[in-house]
Amino acid sequence: MADMKNDIAYVLANEAEIEEICEQLGTKISEDYKDKNVIIVSVLKGAFVFCADVFRHITIPCAIDFMAISSYGSGTTPGAVRLIKDLGVDIAGMDVLIVEDILDSGKSLSYTIELLKARKPASIKICTLLDKPDRRQADITADYVGKVIPDEFVVGYGLDYDEKYRNLPYIGVLKPEVYSD
Ligand code: IMP
Ligand code: MG
Repeated sequence: MADMKNDIAYVLANEAEIEEICEQLGTKISEDYKDKNVIIVSVLKGAFVFCADVFRHITIPCAIDFMAISSYGSGTTPGAVRLIKDLGVDIAGMDVLIVEDILDSGKSLSYTIELLKARKPASIKICTLLDKPDRRQADITADYVGKVIPDEFVVGYGLDYDEKYRNLPYIGVLKPEVYSD
């Protein structure tokens, strides 16, 4: 039987650690946004699992919407960014909190921020589960970071390799032989 865990070299963040991260972020966000008109913008597909967990740790009234972006190119190398699905609501005057799975080169988030800025929100901040600072190309930093990780390709908990492994309940480093052949 093909078990995804056979393709994982090691676990980088287990379920308990992820739960703790989500609770801490949710508490902080609830405090920081208590007098604001907040809308969470979840970036599909990778962030959907993380976003659902953080969202349930936010204790203040909070809107949510979804957008999908994709970087052309497959596997572990990102290409040009494009918009696949836009938001369904007007964010003008709102305090936008973008929730992402991972901040890598920063190209996807720079694109997303430029797109959303043009719609005149009151503010835009970024919450990312994972941050790989060594790989940054765009001048961008997240306001809320779950975990800083080394330059390794990770999967699980929403993150994919070639659309697979999103349903692993933890974050693991993929064995190099899985993507190098
Ligand atoms: P960036 O534009 O380079 O910051 O890349 C952001 C996007 O690339 C993320 O939203 C992920 O979809 C994908 N990505 C970057 N690093 C990884 C990784 O280690 N595993 C899985 N997907 C990744
Ligand atoms: Mg991806």
